[in-house]
Amino acid sequence: MHDYLILHGVNLNMFGRRDPAHYGTCTLDDINRDLHALAAELNVRLDIFQTNDEGRMVERIHAALDDGTRGIVINAGAWTHYSYAIMDALGMLSLPVVEVHMSNVHAREAFRHESVLSRVSAGSVAGFGSMSYLLGLRAVHHLVSVRSALPH
Ligand code: DQA
Repeated sequence: MHDYLILHGVNLNMFGRRDPAHYGTCTLDDINRDLHALAAELNVRLDIFQTNDEGRMVERIHAALDDGTRGIVINAGAWTHYSYAIMDALGMLSLPVVEVHMSNVHAREAFRHESVLSRVSAGSVAGFGSMSYLLGLRAVHHLVSVRSALPH
């Protein structure tokens, strides 16, 4: 059983070998290792999933309806900018979603300024390299902790 679901989208398995000016040299395995280390500090468990297939990403999000996921951190890669399918899938969930990006998407090409996922996200973190993921995990953990402290 996990608490939070970390979703890595299209092309993100290529971190370390892809455009180091924007994404640095760390690999997805390095990022996942750091996420697990922070999760241990926060005393929570992670399920981490990467795919280059939009349909598989949608299906993993559907599964989060029933698998105990309490919050999601997602870097959807280029899908961020146009996937209404992923937006709709995330919109079915009633749990916090935090969007993350390694690069500062707002300082890059115009098509990266738009995020269709922002409509269904609590907030986003962009521009801090692999630290964006760690900040995203802290953010989702904060939102879930605040929520569970509220009277039912
Ligand atoms: C990215 C930014 C996207 O625009 C791009 O398509 C990616 C990575 C980032 O982490 O900075 O694949 O999401």
